[in-house]
Amino acid sequence: MKIGICDSGLGGLIIAQAIQKYMPNYDYIYLGDTLNLPYGQRSQKVIYDLTLNMIQFLFSKDCKLVILACNTACAIALRKIQQEYLPKHYPDRNVLGVIDPMLEEVQESAFKKISVIGTEGLTRTNIYGERLAETLNIKIGTYATPLLVPLLENDGLFLIPEAIQHYNQQFNLAANEGLILGCTHYAHLKRALKESFPELHLFSQDEIIPKKLCDYLNRHSNYKEAISQNGTMEFYVSDYTSRYQRAANELCGRTVLLRETLL
Ligand code: DGL
Repeated sequence: MKIGICDSGLGGLIIAQAIQKYMPNYDYIYLGDTLNLPYGQRSQKVIYDLTLNMIQFLFSKDCKLVILACNTACAIALRKIQQEYLPKHYPDRNVLGVIDPMLEEVQESAFKKISVIGTEGLTRTNIYGERLAETLNIKIGTYATPLLVPLLENDGLFLIPEAIQHYNQQFNLAANEGLILGCTHYAHLKRALKESFPELHLFSQDEIIPKKLCDYLNRHSNYKEAISQNGTMEFYVSDYTSRYQRAANELCGRTVLLRETLL
């Protein structure tokens, strides 16, 4: 069996690469729902349905464990999938999100003045704000930065510094000690953010998820032992484009076979 990793697009691919680099022996399947990207502006019902489609596809491909590498989908759909869908349909498989590991990392840090940026879907739930208020007793601002994903998905990297300045004027991000990148796509923005805010500590999921997943596997031998170890990764998208092929090649540092699948 394999480890599945999914997102609406490029963001999850960054996480998938970081995971494979950290644990190269396992077999992985990556799925990007490029047909339905971006998820961030969609309704909760649509995000739930799209998320479930991705998970069902990965289970049909023999994944024992799925990493839902999309903050928006985690905030809106993960709890229901874990509490209602899995016990009924796949009691011996699991879906893990990217928000809880990020929260643990923030809790372990000494930073108190933190803000979160993410999609509109994520900020509507205020999941980071509520959970950090409960556990650390700190108040954090959660801000929607919806221009960033479309820019990243459409070769607009050169416009990112302007977009960052625009959001900084609106939300005063630089006035904090830390910034949570509450969207897996934003791992791609680390360099631009560092240049704009050299003093800010960035919490980015590509640096957090691989070690947390490794810990999870070490604590759950039934999962660890079920996953085959041939060092492979297969790639699927729900809408194949040459741009996505280019992005996948760039991120993987080699030409990858990107397959199209209907979800
Ligand atoms: N990468 C996704 C996330 O972490 C969102 C991108 C999208 O809007 O589809 O929230």
